[in-house]
Amino acid sequence: MFLEIISIAVLGFIALVLSVQFFQIALGGYAPIIPTKSKVIKRVMKEMSPKDGCAVYELGCGNAGFLRAAENKFPNIKKLVGIEYFFLPYLIGKIQVSLRDSKIKILKKDVLRFNMNEADIIYCFLNKPMMAKLKEKFKKECKAGTQIISYQFGLPDLEPEKVIDLEGGRKNKIYFYTI
Ligand SMILES: C[S@@+](CC[C@H](N)C(=O)[O-])C[C@H]1O[C@@H](n2cnc3c(N)ncnc32)[C@H](O)[C@@H]1O
Repeated sequence: MFLEIISIAVLGFIALVLSVQFFQIALGGYAPIIPTKSKVIKRVMKEMSPKDGCAVYELGCGNAGFLRAAENKFPNIKKLVGIEYFFLPYLIGKIQVSLRDSKIKILKKDVLRFNMNEADIIYCFLNKPMMAKLKEKFKKECKAGTQIISYQFGLPDLEPEKVIDLEGGRKNKIYFYTI
């Protein structure tokens, strides 16, 4: 009986968290929880050349797939930080990172309320409204020379330095900017 009550409470809690997140994503303009495919991450890694001691951020990091790949490929990166707002992907990311010897830190925060002044490279896979809001933040907070890499969604009215057009549809592009 006691176990049944605990199980119902846990399932109820999970259902509540998922419903809140569903409505935030559907109505609040938050980007949905979809991971970047590994072949896209590999392509981004090919294009990156992080300087020694630099700081790399993933905004809306989910399970931090980009940061884990960057840490594997570039041991010269000093700081790797993931920002994730929603509890479930945050928890999954934390667990995945804790299973390896890693410098990656995952913070449970809203990217729009997080200061990015320390970042040298920022990776995002978010959505159109978020990129419009982030453009202003990047301009205000990022130091000169910060590289922004965004999958699928560019920064509105800002000419990218480079765009990689991947096969598989109109949206399948990687945008590169330097602030
Ligand atoms: C499309 S997924 C990308 C996940 C991961 N970056 C990747 O490329 O595999 C977008 C992620 O951003 C998170 N997210 C959406 N809005 C956010 C916000 N305002 N602040 C922090 N994270 C957010 C979502 O929960 C989700 O995990």
